[in-house]
Amino acid sequence: MLNGKKILLGVTGSIAAYKAAFLVRLLVKEGAEVKVIMTPSASDFISKLTLSTLSKNKVLVDLFDEESWANHVMLGRWADIMLIAPLSCNTLAKMAHGQCDNLLLAVYLSATCPVVVAPAMDEDMWHHQSTKDNIQKLVEYGNKIIPVDKGELASGLVGDGRMAEPGNIVKYLEEDFFTSKQLTGRRAFVSAGPTYEPLDPVRFIGNHSSGKMGLALAEELYAKGADVTLIMGPSSLKLPPNACLPDGQGIKIVRVSTAEEMYNACTQQFERSDIGIMAAAVADYTPVNVAADKIKKTNAELVIELKKTRDILQSLGQNKSAKQVLVGFALETNNERDYALGKLKSKNADMVVMNSLNDEGAGFGTDTNKITIFDKSGKEFSYDLMSKKEVAKNIVETIIQLYYA
Ligand code: CTP
Repeated sequence: MLNGKKILLGVTGSIAAYKAAFLVRLLVKEGAEVKVIMTPSASDFISKLTLSTLSKNKVLVDLFDEESWANHVMLGRWADIMLIAPLSCNTLAKMAHGQCDNLLLAVYLSATCPVVVAPAMDEDMWHHQSTKDNIQKLVEYGNKIIPVDKGELASGLVGDGRMAEPGNIVKYLEEDFFTSKQLTGRRAFVSAGPTYEPLDPVRFIGNHSSGKMGLALAEELYAKGADVTLIMGPSSLKLPPNACLPDGQGIKIVRVSTAEEMYNACTQQFERSDIGIMAAAVADYTPVNVAADKIKKTNAELVIELKKTRDILQSLGQNKSAKQVLVGFALETNNERDYALGKLKSKNADMVVMNSLNDEGAGFGTDTNKITIFDKSGKEFSYDLMSKKEVAKNIVETIIQLYYA
C-alpha cells in the first residue's frame, strides 16, 4: 500500500507515455496522492485531461502561464518521491547534464526528495554508449533506476528498452522503495499448506488448506529483507517470481508431504532461524498402517486406526531460545479466543494468529482473512477482513516489534 504517499510523477515524450494513465490509476488505487508534471512533448502522446482526471490534480507543463508561476521548488519539497516514467532518451540526457528548459527539469534539479526513473526507448538508443553514460551519471547523482523490460518496441523490433509495466513500478515503490528492510540479515521460515497422510498408494487424509496465507507471509518477510525458507505441503499454488532464484537467491522452497516430513523440515530450519511461523494445517493424526497395495472394497465397514502425529509448534516452543520468535496459527470454529489463548500458552509460542471459520471470507482457500493476534505479553490486536497480503503485512509488522522489543 502507498497510503498517504505523495508522488510527483514526471511524464516525458515517449510512446510509453500512454502507460502513465495506468500508472496514475494504480498509484491512486494504492492510496497515493499523485501530482503530474509533463514535458511539452509528452502532451503529443497523452492528454493533460486524462492525467488530471485520473490524478484528481491539475497537470503542470509550463514554468508559468499568463496567470501564475508554477513553484517548482515547493513541488519538489511536497513530494515523498519524484518518479519519472516514462523517461525518454532526451530528458535523460538533459538530466545528466543539468539542463533546465522546462518545468519537469526545473523540479528535478531543485527536488529534495528521492528521484526514481523508469526509462523507455528503442533498443539501439538504450544500448548506445551515451545513454549508458547518462544512466551512470544519474546513478552517481543518487537517482534510482527501474530496469527496462525486454519485449516488443514501438519500432516493431523486439529487444531491451520497454518501460517497466506500471504494476511492476508500483510493486517496486511498495516493496523496494517505501519498505524498510528491517529484517536484513535475519533468517525466517514459514510452513504452509496441508499435509497428506497416506492410507494406501492412492488415498490420503488431508485438509482444505491452500497455502495462500503462508505464501503471503513468506513474501512479506522477504520484502522486509529476511532470508526466507518456505516449507510447503502439497499445494497447487503458483510460486511467485522471487522464489528459487539462481545462486540460492529469493525465497527458498522445501517441499514436504506428510506431517512427519513437515516436522523434520521445520525442526531443521528452526535451529538456524530467528523467526519461525507455523501457518501449515498439519494433520493431528496419521494412519497406523499404510497399505502397500490399494485397499479393496468389501462388504464390511472399514475402520482405520490412527495415531497422533508430533505437534511441531509445541516441540519448537519447548526448544526455542529467548531471542527466537515463534508464531502459531489457530483456526477455530467455536470458543475461538479461549482455544487460541490456550495454544499460545501450551505451545510456548510468542504469538498466535487466530481466525474463525465463522467469519465470512476467513480461513482456507479464500484470498482474504480476518484475524486477531495474541502475543505472549497479553496484547491483543483485532483486524477487519482484508486481503491475505495485507494480513501478512500486519502479522510481520507485529513480529518485527516483538523481535526488536
Ligand atoms: N501444529 C503443529 N503440529 C501439529 C498440529 C498443529 O505444529 N501436529 C501447529 C499449526 O501449524 C498451528 C498450531 O499448531 O500453528 C495450531 O494448529 P491447530 O490445528 O489449530 O491446533 P491443534 O494444536 O492441532 O489443536 P486442535 O486441532 O485440537 O484445535
